[in-house]
Amino acid sequence: MWDGEPESGYVRCMFSDLTSIFPDTASTLDGELTIGGIRATELTALFGSPLLVLDEETIQSRTRAWIDAFAPWEPGCQVAFACKSLCVGAALELTSAEGAGADVASAGELAIARAAGISGQDIVLHGNNKYRADLMFAVREGVGLIVLDAPDELDLVEEVVAELQAPPQAVLVRVNPDIEVETHRYIRTGHAGSKFGVCADTAQEMLTRAAKSPHLVPRGIHMHLGSQLLSLDPWRQVLTWLGPFARTLADAGVPIEVLDLGGGLGIRYLEHQHPPTIRDVANLTMSMIRSAWSEYGLDTLPQLIVEPGRSIIGNAGVTLYSVGVVKRDGPIGYVNVDGGMSDNPRPMLYQAEYRCLIADRATTPPDGKWWIAGVHCESGDVLIEDAPLPAPHRGDTLAVAGTGAYTVSMGSNYNAHPRPAVVMVADGVAQIAVRRESIADVVCRDVIAATSIVSNTVHV
Ligand code: LLP
Repeated sequence: MWDGEPESGYVRCMFSDLTSIFPDTASTLDGELTIGGIRATELTALFGSPLLVLDEETIQSRTRAWIDAFAPWEPGCQVAFACKSLCVGAALELTSAEGAGADVASAGELAIARAAGISGQDIVLHGNNKYRADLMFAVREGVGLIVLDAPDELDLVEEVVAELQAPPQAVLVRVNPDIEVETHRYIRTGHAGSKFGVCADTAQEMLTRAAKSPHLVPRGIHMHLGSQLLSLDPWRQVLTWLGPFARTLADAGVPIEVLDLGGGLGIRYLEHQHPPTIRDVANLTMSMIRSAWSEYGLDTLPQLIVEPGRSIIGNAGVTLYSVGVVKRDGPIGYVNVDGGMSDNPRPMLYQAEYRCLIADRATTPPDGKWWIAGVHCESGDVLIEDAPLPAPHRGDTLAVAGTGAYTVSMGSNYNAHPRPAVVMVADGVAQIAVRRESIADVVCRDVIAATSIVSNTVHV
């Protein structure tokens, strides 16, 4: 049994130690965690568990922070929320109401972004392997920019635009600047050998070729170096690299009119992490581009696009689980919850670390360390190792912080487990954004199982 003494690097892990990881409106009432003015246990009583709770105010303020930080940029900067981090219509309505567009990476994300009222013109389409059907859909929806990831994609976009007799399509080329950033290797994207983008020479060829096409309008380049970046170095490196390349492109007659810098800004998952602020990123970006343009004698500053995902939605989310089996039958004490790798695969994929609280004892000091285990049949289905908690019991609500980004959006139905509901909270009101899956939802695409349900031989 853990003796309760702080170890080196150990933090108490009560709500007061973790406020910067929880959403802006999170607080405590009688020792219980509240989000958007609602008790966490009330949310699970109303909506069940697991439950992804999204705080509207946090989403709005982070989106505004990106927009405000780049407001001084005269040619303009579009903030395109990276939908892959969480593609939920109600969240996209909030980001777009603040003035953000969207970065989509599939036909499905495009459909949700359009349904949330984002105009095609404010959408950037990405993807390292777009198919004809995706491009047809994108061109029909009038997406503002298609980011070409390979030379053969250029031909395909040309064909699609010609076939649809659509107006010439504005395109960017995704350039890989060969910069290796410090983050988990699965989420590095700007190094040589990455599956994304093309090298500078190929990008130049593609832009020159696009300029000759009656169906394409080359507007510039896109770069995205990686995700969960916790220092400004990647921005420094890529913006240093950019100057000479911008000069080369201008000399080739394809100047960078639009510069899309992707996303990547990291967030705080643990209290000792200190990611750069949105303003730090914006100020550095704007000043380095200005210097590069002046140093390399380029006259027109580019319009900017930034594509933040995690830094808008990550800390807006809290996942609530219901505790089941609590067991300390060997060296490790387990708190088993009713979700796990199906609603948050990040600990298993990237060894991501999270903090948690027992919702109605958020101000109670921990007296033991527990592993938070998921419900799936897999030893690796552990959400948190060594979480300090006050004695947990069956029926407790466990709140995991910082789960807005890349959790539910990368979820699965492993073990035929229904996917969780998503609720938005603000000013004491909770509204369902994505309804919970039922067993009927889970089995409905299985021809045999669905037939049994329809013919009433299995009752779900
Ligand atoms: N733009 C592009 C082209 C991207 O590929 C991404 C993320 C973003 C923007 C947004 O990046 P953010 O601001 O969210 O870092 N599943 C991983 C993250 C994968 C990121 C993929 N691309 C994770 O859970 O950490």
